[in-house]
Amino acid sequence: MSGGSAPSAHRAVRVKVPATSANLGPGFDTLGIALAYGDELVAETRDEPGATVRVTGVGEGEVPTDASNLVVRSAAHVFERLGRPVPGLEIAARNRIPHGRGMGSSGAAIVAGIMIAAGMLQSDPDSPLELSEDELLAFATELEGHPDNVAPALFGGLTIAWTTERGPRFKRLMVHRGVAPLVLVPSFTMSTELARSLQPKQVPHEDAVFNVSRSALLIAALTQSPELLLEATEDRLHQHYRGDAMPATRDLIGELRADGHPAVVSGAGPSILVLSNGPGERLRAADLVAERHAEWQSLTLAVDTKGATVESIPA
Ligand code: HSE
Repeated sequence: MSGGSAPSAHRAVRVKVPATSANLGPGFDTLGIALAYGDELVAETRDEPGATVRVTGVGEGEVPTDASNLVVRSAAHVFERLGRPVPGLEIAARNRIPHGRGMGSSGAAIVAGIMIAAGMLQSDPDSPLELSEDELLAFATELEGHPDNVAPALFGGLTIAWTTERGPRFKRLMVHRGVAPLVLVPSFTMSTELARSLQPKQVPHEDAVFNVSRSALLIAALTQSPELLLEATEDRLHQHYRGDAMPATRDLIGELRADGHPAVVSGAGPSILVLSNGPGERLRAADLVAERHAEWQSLTLAVDTKGATVESIPA
């Protein structure tokens, strides 16, 4: 977090939040990476209670623009949990992360609200407060339900996130520079709630062991040995249970993997993440999609290493 205290009672902050891709194949509800593609928001306190949100870009004319907006609710959650008064807010959001596509848009909205609150609290002229990384993750996870999108959105890079009795925890790792992400975005959407409802309560023991091995291997592949990514992204815990709900995603992943590309469902879908071993392989995957499936949008993205940022700006 950067910036100092605002001189007046009115405070303003600028927040940037990256898109994310969760699961990464075998790492269901645990692994995620941040992608250099995100939303940017400016928030200012105002005298009247409540909130007004002006959205441009993705979600414009669709998402709520009052206090029911997810960014506003997330900011309010932080103030309320800390027993601080919730300020009136004017927010301008420039959104790029597609909604309902498995690129962490709801996690990004939650993180945006939390960072707005964190920035406002830090620059509070009467009683400044700095939130810890653990607090930021705990508040975000309380709202999102699982930490695998919000951890990379907050902290950048590759994150391993897990839950304990004392709350969520995370470990951030640097991704090997040879890993070249490609995100394939379809025109249709997928509800995370529907995707989660398709998961069985129990899975065969051999499938659990299969995913333990691939998840462990995936950490090595993403940080040291990208040549292992095809095997390391195999999964038996979630993708096939959800396949019938997004057959175009399932079929394109099958086609890409048969051609040697480490393709997985991005988050709960329906987008696809290809974790290519180098830019040449990524180009080969993008060419395959452009030639045979031009209706899918290809996003050639770097891994975001900073995570969400907040800075105080003049109010
Ligand atoms: N791990 C989550 C899921 C990511 O696959 O359901 C989407 O929120």
